[in-house]
Formats: sequence, structure tokens, C-alpha cells
Amino acid sequence: MEYQEPLFFRVMQWAERADRDVVDMVSGNPDWGSPPAISEGLHEYADLGGDAFQYAPSPGLDDLREEIAARRGVDADRVVVTNGGGMANTLGMARALERDAGDEVIMTDPVYPYYPGKTTMLGGEQVFVPTERDGSLDPADVRDAAGENTACIIVNTPNNPTGKVYSEETLRELVAIAEAVDALLVVDEVYDHFDFTGEFTSALTFDSPNVVVTNSFSKTFAITGFRVGYAVFPEAHVDAAISRNMLTNVSTTRPGQYAVLHALRETDPDYYAESRALLENRVDAFTAALDEAGAEYSTPDGAFYVLAKFPGFPGTLENVRALIEDAGVAGMPGTGFGESKAEWIRFALVTPRVDDAAARLTDYFA
Ligand SMILES: Cc1ncc(COP(=O)(O)O)c(C=O)c1O
Repeated sequence: MEYQEPLFFRVMQWAERADRDVVDMVSGNPDWGSPPAISEGLHEYADLGGDAFQYAPSPGLDDLREEIAARRGVDADRVVVTNGGGMANTLGMARALERDAGDEVIMTDPVYPYYPGKTTMLGGEQVFVPTERDGSLDPADVRDAAGENTACIIVNTPNNPTGKVYSEETLRELVAIAEAVDALLVVDEVYDHFDFTGEFTSALTFDSPNVVVTNSFSKTFAITGFRVGYAVFPEAHVDAAISRNMLTNVSTTRPGQYAVLHALRETDPDYYAESRALLENRVDAFTAALDEAGAEYSTPDGAFYVLAKFPGFPGTLENVRALIEDAGVAGMPGTGFGESKAEWIRFALVTPRVDDAAARLTDYFA
């Protein structure tokens, strides 16, 4: 699967240039605002000057690594602060592939499109395993696909685009498969604060030398432009990951790290609960409209995306364009996430105008 950056930009451009008002449900940029401590931290940082404006340590600011480690119940030496969750995934996948332990990267279909893109960029080979209609993953399919050439298994929970939250049992089995074939299991948990089930299990629950967990503050604190994320590596791999981070980025942005640390310390738990509740309400409103429109859809257990399939209206690029121009709602064509969702359109619930979008879709299809 090619990494289709132009597809994403093309759809965004159609939405921007349309001759009418369009509700943008394409991007993954949260719209609900950051906690106040993010801006406070940035203001505070702006006055520090001097040493505080120089290179940060490559693995991240010591205090931030410690704060993350305490929250995740791991040793701070295992935490690498990265240029967003994206770089955390790159470090995990690159480490998996550079060990001479094979060149295959197993991922799901549908998939977050950066995984196949990064696999190709890093010289690996893409291997896809199907998921169930509701996005759940049967570990037996991963076991069948895994072998001595498997370097990496990468999964994402809560999942973009399906909204699935993988069960503890599924994760336990994935860890066992990774250990059996000496693969690194990279578990991308960037949506961990957006779990509507209360049953999200972090892969850090399993103390395994084969597990890399990645995460990000991009969505948690609505700061996709800050570029602060992290990876928790097994001890045997952390030094190599820090070297790669150093050679690629030196370190990620110091003002961003400072503001995130301040926000972690000062943010009331209500902030997280409120953004989750807001999203749950949007899911309810949007899926109710999809019912009226006669669409099939996914009901997410977490994250903030809904996949929809409208009768007689497959999620092709042409139909996505028609929806922008004729209904005033922009979503992403399902083909961007793999063959299994070619009939579907993904809508990101990151707009206060979910109700407008819902009404427009009902009018258009009902
Ligand atoms: C599953 C998944 N992983 C990683 C990322 C990237 O996160 P970041 O912006 O922190 O690089 C995203 C962004 O949409 C995502 O959906």
C-alpha cells in the first residue's frame, strides 16, 4: 500500500475551495481547546531564556521523562520523548527492522496509513492481517502471518480508523506471538485518553522485552502542532532508540516539552473527562443521523472517528468529492486506510458542527 499523502491533501483542498460552506471532518486536529496550563507553561518558558533555550537532552527533559515514567509505572530510563507519536512509531519500527531479525512488518487492514508508509521508508515489507467487521483483531490471524521473517508487529488501540479498543486478552496474545517469533510489538496508544469503554488496557501491563509502547500529547492536550510524544522501550533497545532520535532530531522541541510537563502537573482530571464526554455525545448525535440516512457505520469504543457506508454510494474519491460539493460534508475515502474499507468513508468528530454535518447527511441520503 502506497502512503497516499496527496489523497489527504486533495480532499482538504476540495473542502477549502468548495463554493459552499463545508463541515470539515477530514483532519485529526482536536477542536476542543488545550488545558490552560499549556499556555501558562509556554508563557513561563518564554521568560526563562539563557540555558533553558539551548538543546534539550536527546531522550527528553529529565523531569518530563520522570513524570511520564511515574504515570506509566516504568523506569524513567526507558522513556524517550519524541517529535510526536509519529516519531515514536518510527523509532520503534526502525529498531525492530535494524536487528537482522527479518524485514516484515505485520499490521492490520484497515490501517493507520503512516504504518505502511513508514514500513516502506524504512526498507521493510508490508504484511496485512484482516480485522473483523467491528475492527477487532483475531490474534490467530497474526499468528498465522508471523514467522522468522517478522521484525515488527504494529497495532493501535484505541484504533484509528475503526474506534476499536483491543481487549487485554488480545494484547496478551500479541505479546506472546511477538516473543515467540522475536518480533518487536509496537503498540500505538495515542488515543488512550479517549476510551469510552473504561476497559482500555495498555500494553505496558505486560512486562515483556518485546514490547514498545508509543504515545503522544497531540490529541490528549489538543496540541498536534507542538510535536511532543514518547516511546517506552524495553531496556535492551533504549540506547539504540536514543541514538537514532539524536541523529535524526537531536531532541524534540524544548518549549513544547516544558509546556507539556507543566500541563501534566497542573491539569485537573476533569479536562480529560470533559473532552471524552464531548466526543461520546458527538458519536451519539452523528450515528443517530447515520441511522436516519440508512447508512452502516462503526460505533467507536474509543478515539474520534466513525466509518460509514452509505447505500449505493461507495467511499470513492469521486463520491467523497460529491459529498463535499453537494452535501457540504468532507470525510476521508476509505481506500486511504486499506482495501477492506474501500466502500466506506471516515469522518473525524473534531468539529463543533457535528450536528450540522449529521443534518446535511440525513437530508442528502434520506
Ligand atoms: C494512530 C495514530 N498514531 C499516531 C498519530 C500521530 O500523532 P502525532 O501527531 O503525535 O505525531 C496519529 C495522528 O493522527 C494517529 O492517528
